[in-house]
Amino acid sequence: MDAVGLLGAVLPATVTAVARLSDDDDAPLHPSEEAAVARAVASRRAEFTTGRWCAREALAALGAPAEAIPVGEERAPVWPAGVVGSITHTRGFRGAAVAWRSTVRSVGIDAEVHDVLPDRVLDVVSSETERALLERLSSARPDVAWDRLLFSAKESVYKTWFPLTGRWLGFEDAELVPSEDGTFTTRLLVEGPTVDGAVVESFVGRWAVADGILVTAIALPAR
Ligand SMILES: CC(C)(COP(=O)(O)OP(=O)(O)OC[C@H]1O[C@@H](n2cnc3c(N)ncnc32)[C@H](O)[C@@H]1OP(=O)(O)O)[C@@H](O)C(=O)NCCC(=O)NCCS
Repeated sequence: MDAVGLLGAVLPATVTAVARLSDDDDAPLHPSEEAAVARAVASRRAEFTTGRWCAREALAALGAPAEAIPVGEERAPVWPAGVVGSITHTRGFRGAAVAWRSTVRSVGIDAEVHDVLPDRVLDVVSSETERALLERLSSARPDVAWDRLLFSAKESVYKTWFPLTGRWLGFEDAELVPSEDGTFTTRLLVEGPTVDGAVVESFVGRWAVADGILVTAIALPAR
């Protein structure tokens, strides 16, 4: 698998994903999106624009209107009616994932360069319990940057959580249990949203690595 195939590998067939490994400087922005990057530096403009390009390609592949995706509350993308989705970008990777709300209630994706976290970041984003687990996993699979994986999975959790709640979720508000088999489970330590009549207590996701890029993803299915 190469990096372009990562999102497809970690998401169910109910979610449509598109990724790019480089920017297209000529990709157009909708006027309602333009405002978000009007004063942005070139690198920010490029990642934002390619993220929107991926999102529109994914919407078209889903059969949804490939229209403007403005920036909403707390920077969350505003998707066309009936659609849920998520956008991510990191050095050398841009991607978007979309699904019909009738089948998937929320989706969150995150891509990171597959490398150890900078000094002291792990202490800020994890608990002692999580760090003990990461140590055990690192002994068994030293080829995986488990600290980066934890960070990425928590970013995916936040992107899944926010559209359901409209609320902040801190790194200490969820406990992550990653597994060598390419899955992870996140137990919420605060009250979760009610979705389809049931309180969400955890999110289950998948992770994968290819070509130096780590991707994590969560798709919360409709019940
Ligand atoms: C919002 C956040 C998750 C973005 O992650 P990131 O690593 O900075 O950047 P990524 O490139 O992966 O993702 C950026 C995209 O996330 C999306 N995004 C931003 N805020 C969002 C929100 N509140 N809800 C859903 N998606 C959001 C946007 O589409 C953004 O891209 P764009 O601005 O070009 O549209 C991160 O900046 C953040 O605030 N994290 C703290 C909260 C957290 O992770 N808590 C852990 C809970 S266990």
